[in-house]
Amino acid sequence: MRLVVVSNRVTIPDRHEKATAGGLAVALREALERHGGLWFGWSGVVGAARQLRETQRGNVTYAVTDLSEAERESYYLGFSNRALWPIMHYRLGLTEFQRSDYMGYLGVNRRFARELAGMIRPDDVIWIHDYHLIPLAAELRRRGVTNRIGYFHHIPWPSADTLTALPFSATLVRTLAAYDLVGVQTRLDARNLVDCLVMLCGAKFDGRRVRLGLRETAVRAFPIGIDVEAFRRLAAASVRQAATPLRATRESLGERKLVIGVDRLDYSKGIVQRLEAFGQFLRSHPEERGRVGLLQIAPPSRSDVPEYAELDRMSDEVAGRLNAQLGEFDWTPIRVVKKAYSRTALAGLYRSAQVGLVTPMRDGMNLVAKEYVAAQNPADPGVLVLSRFAGAAQQLGEALIVNPYDTHEVAEAIRTALAMPKSERIRRFEALYQIIEASGIHWWTRCYLEALAGEPVAAEDVEPP
Ligand code: F6P
Repeated sequence: MRLVVVSNRVTIPDRHEKATAGGLAVALREALERHGGLWFGWSGVVGAARQLRETQRGNVTYAVTDLSEAERESYYLGFSNRALWPIMHYRLGLTEFQRSDYMGYLGVNRRFARELAGMIRPDDVIWIHDYHLIPLAAELRRRGVTNRIGYFHHIPWPSADTLTALPFSATLVRTLAAYDLVGVQTRLDARNLVDCLVMLCGAKFDGRRVRLGLRETAVRAFPIGIDVEAFRRLAAASVRQAATPLRATRESLGERKLVIGVDRLDYSKGIVQRLEAFGQFLRSHPEERGRVGLLQIAPPSRSDVPEYAELDRMSDEVAGRLNAQLGEFDWTPIRVVKKAYSRTALAGLYRSAQVGLVTPMRDGMNLVAKEYVAAQNPADPGVLVLSRFAGAAQQLGEALIVNPYDTHEVAEAIRTALAMPKSERIRRFEALYQIIEASGIHWWTRCYLEALAGEPVAAEDVEPP
């Protein structure tokens, strides 16, 4: 069996690459290297040429195509990131729909199907990722592709009631029936997605499979994980290295404690609300002033989308205001760094932070939460503060679970985390580590691919351990 992975963005790895925190790219590369095969998608380049280019790296062929400026505008910035992204993150107020964007989205999916169909072999298993490519299987089927095709939805799937606000939502949801398997992160996502197929498209559900017309599609939750052991080793090694961002950070902190947040600069991540919560913590607990700092790493993302540009401005404004109000001449409470760091640097920073603050307003899974746990020193671990609206909260109940809309609750969780006795930190860490280890990235790809191949999987419905 050859594995064919399709995702919106394909980054061909080189030796000196910098990966942003967590995310799809790292997880998929690890999956493909284990199985061998083809990775198809957008090169990230915008240009007129649009020819398909192939590059070989080990046992993986990367086949990439460019987008035209108009395609980037309509398919990527428009329908994917101004309509689907906000609505799937339950942000109706931020959802901007344009018919021309939707047409562009369908057009790119059609073109991808045309280019990909020529490369498919009879024994390939095709695994399509993320909301940019929902109709791709339907387009491939139209071109006669009969292979097993799976889809994994990395972001949340909202309720049918929310999704119907999106024009053409029923048509879009109906295209999911072209897949043999649809995977989502949590059981709530699975329930919502099945509801959408039943309520918007009239599908039948027998408790395991959705039937629509002649097609049967399995829908299941597969909570994505990380390579725990590799990340743990990275963190341990980073501590030993000289001249790392970790060492510089530690030196600049002195005896002060570190609270860390690492996210793409995205409104779904709750960065502004998190800064406000840290400010609230310092106001409620003035004795902590000067003793702790928040480092927020936030590599810029989708900056051509107006809502992201606004977040960029707002996060600077809030951090500036809080620093001016609460800081001292020799202490800056909040540092926001808007650039990407290597995974090694991040692993080291996570390990040296007493608190990992992962407080998205809504998130499919959130791999930073798992990376933070994996990076900890088992003899003296930090504490994870985690939003109940991250998919990861369904598995990581031993974190301090918070409602990111409640600034006071997050502020008190920071206080509790900083004051937590070592014995309790170790107990919580061990419980969390066990879970992320048992449901790592290799577990995830194995479960998904076995289910896609139609083979029996370990559990009837893959349950998060
Ligand atoms: O799953 C979320 C996701 O859209 C991934 O597909 C992607 O790797 C990440 O967010 C970053 O988004 P973008 O490719 O738009 O920069």
